[in-house]
Order: sequence, then C-alpha cells, then structure tokens
Amino acid sequence: MTISESTYRPSAEVLQAKQRFGIVGNAPALIAAVERTMRVAPIDLSVLITGESGAGKEFFPQIIHAYSARKHAKYIAVNCGAIPEGTIDSELFGHEKGSFTGAVASRKGYFEEADGGTIFLDEVAELPLTTQARLLRVLESGEFLKVGSSTVQKTNIRVVAATNVDMVRAVEEGRFREDLFYRLSTVQITIPPLRERGGDIALLARKFATDFAERWHLPAITLGDDARMLMQRYRWPGNVRQLKNVIEQVALFEAGSTITADHLRTYLPDYITQTATALTTRPVHDYEQEREMWLNLILQLQSRIDRLEQQMGKPADHRPGFLPAPKRLASFDDADDGFTDYSEAPATERPAAPAAPADSQPTTLESRERQAIAEALARNGGRRKESAEELNISLRTLYRKIKEYGLE
Ligand SMILES: Nc1ncnc2c1ncn2[C@@H]1O[C@H](COP(=O)(O)OP(=O)(O)OP(=O)(O)O)[C@@H](O)[C@H]1O
Ligand SMILES: [Mg+2]
Repeated sequence: MTISESTYRPSAEVLQAKQRFGIVGNAPALIAAVERTMRVAPIDLSVLITGESGAGKEFFPQIIHAYSARKHAKYIAVNCGAIPEGTIDSELFGHEKGSFTGAVASRKGYFEEADGGTIFLDEVAELPLTTQARLLRVLESGEFLKVGSSTVQKTNIRVVAATNVDMVRAVEEGRFREDLFYRLSTVQITIPPLRERGGDIALLARKFATDFAERWHLPAITLGDDARMLMQRYRWPGNVRQLKNVIEQVALFEAGSTITADHLRTYLPDYITQTATALTTRPVHDYEQEREMWLNLILQLQSRIDRLEQQMGKPADHRPGFLPAPKRLASFDDADDGFTDYSEAPATERPAAPAAPADSQPTTLESRERQAIAEALARNGGRRKESAEELNISLRTLYRKIKEYGLE
C-alpha cells in the first residue's frame, strides 16, 4: 500500500486507538501498521509483530487483544528471552508435582491460565527448540502436556508474538522451526524504524521532553531548529526507546535550555561523524556556539588519537585531567519507570555505546554530570540528602557519584 503523507487521513478508529494506547506519530507506515492491527484484531488468527528493537512493538499485541472478542478474558505477556531455558516449558505449560527437583506442587502454566484469552510471546525467537515443538502443537490442535504429565489438556488461546530478529535467517540457521514460523506469522505486521518516520521524530521528542519536565518538576527544554535537523538525520539504531532515553538525559542535564545540535550531539553515540556533517551543513549562530562546537570536535578527535596511540603501544593517559571511563548515568540506576538500560539488553541488540573508551578524555556529558553534582552540593552546604533530592537521584547513587568523581 502506498500512502501519501499529504493526502492520507487516518480513520477515527485509528485515532482513537492511538490515543487509548498513547501511540505518538502520524507517519503513514506507522498508521498503516495500526490499521492492519485493528483489522486483524477481531479475526482469531496468530499475528507476528516484527520491527527493530525499540520501534514500539509492544503496543500492538495489546491493541489486538483489546479489539478482539477475547477482550474480557485474560491477556498474558511473556518475555521468552527473560525466562531461563530450564524453566520455560514449565512456565508456559505448567508442571506436575515431583516432575523435577523443586516441583513440590503442581502448577498451572500461562497457556492454562489464559484459557479463552490472548498470550503475547515477546522475543519469540529466543524460544528453545523443544519449547517450539510444544508451541506448534498447541497452536495446531489446542493441546498441550504439562511437564511431567502424560494427560493431554486443551486450551483455547490466541497467540500474538513479537521479535526484532530476522526470522527468515533464524529459520535458515536452524534456530527457529520453519513450520512454527509460518504458523505464527499467518499475519505479519511490521513496525517501521524511527529513522523512516519523518516529522514523528520531533513530535516524539517534544512529548518525551514535556513528560519528563512535568514528572520531575524541571523547567522544560526547547529544541532548536538545528537540533531538530540533527535528530532528523540521525539513524536512531535504538529507535523510539533510544530517542526517549536521549531526550530524558537532555531534559535532565540541560533543563530549561534551548538545545542546539551541539548539545544534542554529545548525547548521541557515533556523533563524531555527525559533527563532521554538521560543520558543513548548518549555519553557525554566534562565536560562543562556534567555539563550543570546535572544542567538542577537538575533544572527540583527541580521544580517537588516544585510542590509535594505545593500539600502537603508546600510553594514552599522559595528559592531566585523565578520568576513568564513564559509567552508567546516575539517573538510570534506580529507574523502574520505563527508562531503558541498554546494559540489560543482549549485546546484539544494543546500539553502539557512546564513544568513550577507558582511555578517553572525560566526555562533555560526564563533566556536566560532575559539575551538576558539585553545584548541588555547594548550594546545599554539602548536605547530601538535600542535594540528592534536588538532583532527583537516590542518596545511594549520590554517594557513589561523589566517590567516583572525587568530590568528597
Ligand atoms: N509511537 C510511540 N509513541 C510513544 N511511545 C513510544 C512509541 N513507540 C515506542 N514508544 C516507547 O518506546 C519504548 C520502546 O518501545 P517498545 O518496548 O514497544 O519497543 P520494542 O519494539 O518492543 O523493542 P524490543 O524489540 O527491544 O523489545 C517504550 O517505552 C514505548 O512506550
Ligand atoms: Mg519489546
């Protein structure tokens, strides 16, 4: 389907679903995905949601359930990648008492629990082959066996699965059963990557910035024209999740400021190439800005030279001001709030880490964090509890950061 952005108008139902689930964006490919999802929702078919990591797949199984006849029955979301291989069969299909060490009582699995409802199998490509065989059977006949039982049980479940893995390749490499792949993907819905969504990038950035400022009672940031242009050009390997993460960092450390492309670039991985591009494409507004931009570029180049020197066997930490490699940002250590920590994602799914190897100069972000902490401590007469509250981080994190940055 080709839909022109200027002429296409989503239906009232699509707009309503977007609002209900908090989906931001008007890109034709995103709207088409929502439309397809709503069309298939009332038809009891298996659906496979595909798309890059962080693209926003998790809304779609919920839409399917909510717009299906199963909406009043259970909806269970299972992250197949997070359950250890040894227990996944028991989690999904249940087990009999004594079927393995520690099985002191029999237990219902999700396929029994959600009878009549919907199961969302997230990261479905991570299922072990033995579990794939059980899943195929339940999809084809509605039958399953609890672990350690020989009694066939019946269940009536709709399965929606999601993956960011290239399934055709997984099948070719023998990691995923071909028959199960076809059975799961009766209908396939692909969520477009963020870099292909045009104006949605700025729209999402504004939304995340406003939400963050409201939530933490901080003055909101404003995105300058050049920052918006940079966001548009950047490839967003971690998609919406990465954009949210970046904007939340910017909203914290640059609260109240107008964000320029230079500010923003320091929060983006692989920004050295972006800097080079920006130098040739964007106008420089004033000397202060120009100076900061050149300084950033010099720092980045210096860190590259350090790395090269080290590869050639020369010591890199010869300059004063050397600091150890930056750790994760303070604000994310205590997050249970939708902040994304890529350190917990499998290595293959992680976007490239910001250019900050162990031998590099402190990054601008790192030095800003140190400065923000030092200033908060000074403002609060060294009182740590008040400083932590002001910075919106836990006392534990503040103690760690004080030690890390030598601020005692
Ligand atoms: N269109 C959107 N509007 C608002 N928020 C969005 C949108 N798309 C994604 N998000 C947010 O981005 C984050 C990542 O989305 P989600 O968890 O659905 O990614 P995913 O595609 O399931 O990624 P993965 O394959 O890594 O599991 C979530 O916090 C989600 O709420
Ligand atoms: Mg997901």
